Amino acid sequence: MSLASFLQWLSNTQFSVMMRESTWAEPIVETIHVLTLTLFLGLAALLDLRLLGVAMKRRRMSEVLGQLNPCLFVGFAVMVVSGVVLFSGDPVSFYSTTFFKVKMIMLVLAGLNVMIFNATIGRKVAEWDMDLKTPRGAKAAAVVSLLLWVLIVAAGRGIAYALPPP
Ligand code: HEM
Repeated sequence: MSLASFLQWLSNTQFSVMMRESTWAEPIVETIHVLTLTLFLGLAALLDLRLLGVAMKRRRMSEVLGQLNPCLFVGFAVMVVSGVVLFSGDPVSFYSTTFFKVKMIMLVLAGLNVMIFNATIGRKVAEWDMDLKTPRGAKAAAVVSLLLWVLIVAAGRGIAYALPPP
């Protein structure tokens, strides 16, 4: 099955038709998407600023990671699920926009950034746990993360302006 025929199939499902035709479904899911975004992005920014040695300077890095990770995980999961639900409401139109594709690519890059951090400098956090001057790798991961999340939000916002007329 090609991607185009999958999107067409998804668009014809009862769920997709309900998402399009219901007055409340889309605004409710979009509100959930945006609210979890504020939770997730706020905490992700805090974590990144600690990695840069700018915020929560007196807190151990491992403590900050331990406290924020569960909320970050929940926020991210709800954001992805609500995003997929929104997408399923009109998959063909959403996928036709460059903003949607760019956003998905940047989400993958943000995930890779976290994986690289965890596999390298993050594994040795005990060695720089209390350091105000965090390692270069940690700073680089934080800058990449901040940049990507700003661009992901901008691309998410851009989707609405790029949709084909109904
Ligand atoms: C995980 C991080 C994500 C972030 C930070 C994010 C961010 C955003 C933002 C800022 C908006 C604009 C909200 C508005 O204009 O009111 C948006 C809308 C949207 N997002 Fe996401 N999103 C994420 C994940 C996803 C995923 C995984 C999908 C789908 C696979 C998705 C699909 C959508 C769709 C379809 C819209 C609606 C566009 C519209 O109707 O205007 N999002 N997102």
